[in-house]
Amino acid sequence: MSGAFPEPVVVTTAAELREASARLLRDTGVPLPSLGLVPTMGALHAGHAGLATAARDGNDVVVASIFINPLQFGEPADLERYPRTLDADLELLGRCGVDLVFAPSGAEMYPGGEPQVRVRSGPLADKLEGAARPGHFDGMLTVVAKLLHVAQPPVEARFRAYFGQKDAQQLVLIRCMVSDLNFPVGIVGVPTVRASDGLALSSRNAFLSAAERKAALVLPRALRLLEERAARHEALDPDSVLDMLASERSVSLDYLEIVDPGTLEPLAFNCRHVPFTGSALAVIAARVGPVRLIDNMRLGPE
Ligand code: PAF
Repeated sequence: MSGAFPEPVVVTTAAELREASARLLRDTGVPLPSLGLVPTMGALHAGHAGLATAARDGNDVVVASIFINPLQFGEPADLERYPRTLDADLELLGRCGVDLVFAPSGAEMYPGGEPQVRVRSGPLADKLEGAARPGHFDGMLTVVAKLLHVAQPPVEARFRAYFGQKDAQQLVLIRCMVSDLNFPVGIVGVPTVRASDGLALSSRNAFLSAAERKAALVLPRALRLLEERAARHEALDPDSVLDMLASERSVSLDYLEIVDPGTLEPLAFNCRHVPFTGSALAVIAARVGPVRLIDNMRLGPE
C-alpha cells in the first residue's frame, strides 16, 4: 500500500475474479447491487481516473482490468513500447476507490495463443481509425467481449462498463456489439479529460517532445472553433479549419470529419456553408512527430 489510499485487491485469473467479485457484491448487503467495470490497458492517467471515478460514483463494487491486448496492436514495435506502469496504475486506481483489479497474463486471456474465433467489427470499423489501423477494432472488440464475459457479476447484480468518449469509434463499436449480440451490460461513455492546455489526455502524449506537444494543440483549437461556430449556429466552414491545421508544419492531418454521433456516418455537408443546426461530432486524427493523436468534440446539444 502506498499513500493514504488502500490499493485494490489484485487478481490474475478469471476464477479468482469471480470469487472475489461475488464476495464483494454479497458483502454490500444491497438487495440488487451493481458492479462497474473499467477496462484498461494500464499506463493510466487522469482520463482513466475519470472512468474509475464515474464507475465508483455509480456502483456498489468497482472492478478495473489491466491487460495490454496484443490483438489490437498492428506493429509488434508498438506493443513492445507500450508503457508498463503497474505500481503507479494500482496507486491511481486505489485513489479512485476501485475495489478489485483484474490483471491477467496473456496465457490467462488467450490460453491457446491467438484465438481462432474473433469478433468482426463490420464496415463501421473500416473507416476513420480503422482505415489507418487494419484489424485494430476486431482485436479490441474481441478482448472487450472476453472481459465483459469474465467480469459478468457471478451473483444477481446490475452490470455497467465504462469507456472514454475520446475513443469515439471504439465506444460506438462497443455499443453496437453489446446491442447486436445482446450482452447483458450497460455501456457508459465518460467525457474526455483534457490537460490545462486543452490537449486530450492520452498515454501517447508521453512520446511528444515539448515542441511537438505545443504544435499538437492545434487539434483541440480546431475542434473548439467548430464547437463555437456550431453553438452560434454559424456555418462550420471546415475549409478554414483545414487551413488552420495546415499552418502547423509538424502536424500531418489524417482526417477531420463531421459525422453523426451515433453512426459515425459523415453528415451531408449542408453545415459547410449554411447555419449549423442539430447535433454532430467533429472527429480528428493527425500524426505529430512520432505519435498519432485522435480527438473529437460534440457540436450542438447532446
Ligand atoms: O481503450 C482501451 O484502453 C482499450 O482499447 C480497451 C477498451 C481496454 C481494450 O483493450
